[in-house]
Amino acid sequence: MDRIRIAGGTPLRGTIAIGGAKNAALALMPACLLTDETLTLTNLPDLADIATMANLLAQHGVRLTLQGDRGADRVLDLAATEIINTTAPYDLVRRMRASVLVLGPLVARCGQARVSLPGGCAIGTRPVDLHLKALEQMGARIELQEGYISATVNGRLHGAEIVFPQVTVGGTENALMAATLAKGETIISNAAREPEVADLAHCLVAMGARIEGIGSDTLTIQGVERLHGARYRVVPDRIETGSYAVAAAITRGDVELVGARLDLMGAVVKVLTDCGVTVSATENGVRIAADRADIVGTDIMTEPYPGFPTDMQAQLMALMATAGGASMITETIFENRFMHVPELMRMGARINVHNASAIVRGVPRLSGAPVMATDLRASVSLVLAGLAAEGETIVNRVYHLDRGYERVEEKLAACGARIERLHDGAAE
Ligand code: EPZ
Repeated sequence: MDRIRIAGGTPLRGTIAIGGAKNAALALMPACLLTDETLTLTNLPDLADIATMANLLAQHGVRLTLQGDRGADRVLDLAATEIINTTAPYDLVRRMRASVLVLGPLVARCGQARVSLPGGCAIGTRPVDLHLKALEQMGARIELQEGYISATVNGRLHGAEIVFPQVTVGGTENALMAATLAKGETIISNAAREPEVADLAHCLVAMGARIEGIGSDTLTIQGVERLHGARYRVVPDRIETGSYAVAAAITRGDVELVGARLDLMGAVVKVLTDCGVTVSATENGVRIAADRADIVGTDIMTEPYPGFPTDMQAQLMALMATAGGASMITETIFENRFMHVPELMRMGARINVHNASAIVRGVPRLSGAPVMATDLRASVSLVLAGLAAEGETIVNRVYHLDRGYERVEEKLAACGARIERLHDGAAE
């Protein structure tokens, strides 16, 4: 398994290109199932999770044609001319929970779907009950058999008034996609407002869907008989942006994130500014300057967009571990998203966890150490800590990292980081 070795202490200077959003692409790709015409996605990131979704769609009968190469604007054609299989098998779904996003489109297009229950993952049990309740309200008959979700509808789904008791990104996306082909009007209340949900809605409109309220917590959809093909550009990744913003801040560097959009960063901008980092829009993206900053601690609570994103919690904790003063970090979205804590503590971080809150007392310098990645965002927080630490850090199990970050060592090395990937097959 690959590992990453970092010799910390170098302030990052230069530019980092920000790619298309993983969590937008993972919803945009299954949208191709809603039409028999070709959906073309541009600015597609080159990530393991994208490849997993491509494999899943291919076994449904989608023809995928990839143009462009690594780093250039990657263009993917997806043609679900004929759907030959409506089962999403356990072996594929267990690798990536976002596979459940084929459920809504398959039921809407084919009247049936058999999708493996995703099961839990490292950060929590992550049920999909809200996805299923929404589809049931739209007329789908849902049964759970042998670890699979079996959903069927006689004829077409029908519109419904769906009120999510808690914000769910995937639940909103499944309901939204299903509603575009349902008979009549669907209103989704307490809908997720994440930019990736808005990106999906804009793409569906480009495919002929009728959606009002995009970007708000209430989506109103008038179902149509069919959708057509479209060409759509994936929105820039706000979490990749935030992760590299922390890389600049934690090394006290000065970096321009090319292709990033300040307006998508939500509460991350205020939090970084409160910590003493200068965040500003440039002609080509966003500039992060911390070379003359005394980084100070601040308190955050993760919330649905536009609040501070749970996907940035581990990264901010790494920064707070090196800040002056104390910080309180409260995780409200997932029940087990502090697995980076013991690894950061191996590097000298001073962190106390009490239930959903972690108190972080900054230290002048972290010290490099061998550490273990446990999930996608925890793994990047360990890389960030390694960039600032004195001495050498080895991050093991970087396959977690490759699920959501494209060429991370190349992008950081180009800004002066002393970082390399060790392609050793040795299992730890
Ligand atoms: C999406 O996951 C993202 N993944 C996650 O990013 C992100 O952390 C999460 O939204 C929250 O922003 C993708 O978009 C592919 P949810 P999702 O449904 O849709 C509970 C990353 O690092 N819930 O908004 O699965 C759930 O357990 C990943 O890129 C139910 O109880 O998240 C969680 O506590 C990690 N029942 C909360 O809601 C349901 O039916 C939010 O989950 C659905 C969700």
